Amino acid sequence: KRIAIFASGSGSNFQAIVDAQRRGEIDAEIALLVCDKPQAKVVERAEQAGVKAFTFRPKDYPSREAYEAMLVQVLEEHRIDLIVLAGYMRLITRVLLEPYEGRIINIHPSLLPSFPGVEGIGDAYRYGVKVTGVTVHYVDDGMDTGPIIAQVPVSIEPQDTLETLAEKIHAAEHALYPKVIQWICEGRVRLDGRRVLIDGLS
Ligand code: GRF
Repeated sequence: KRIAIFASGSGSNFQAIVDAQRRGEIDAEIALLVCDKPQAKVVERAEQAGVKAFTFRPKDYPSREAYEAMLVQVLEEHRIDLIVLAGYMRLITRVLLEPYEGRIINIHPSLLPSFPGVEGIGDAYRYGVKVTGVTVHYVDDGMDTGPIIAQVPVSIEPQDTLETLAEKIHAAEHALYPKVIQWICEGRVRLDGRRVLIDGLS
């Protein structure tokens, strides 16, 4: 398989996926980084890793649909099979969803459906839950609403600050996301309605 990673920011998940692929833990090619912020740190990471980076500015396009139509062309040129959102801070429309139906995944830093949105870590911390975590899910046209593929819990201890919690969440993300990507590459992940079943996982 050929994977495109979409990211907007620091790219620590991008790095974790690339590192796992280099260690032989992901049987696929990380063919492309797509980034909507040309100045983002993830673009540097891609350069250092030798992954082709495609950057664009949403403001240069009249609408979300317009830049997504352009992205579909870029993805087709690179024969991309799977889109991995890793801190891509934009909603996706039908223009991208339809051609890649069931082939776009995202990682979210909470146990969905709790705490969707851009502040998943802080919202859980401030709410006062004792357990939060990480979710990998298929992407649909809602915000963090698609079928859930995998989740791992992260406990919030009394001594945790927002910073220490964020560190624990990111460590959990970096361990989980490469694993899920490999399950998909192995063809072990299937949908049964909203339920996602993973072959060979007890
Ligand atoms: C991660 O916490 C991810 O769950 C969320 O955005 C953050 C991206 O971080 N969607 P990074 O850019 O991978 O470091």
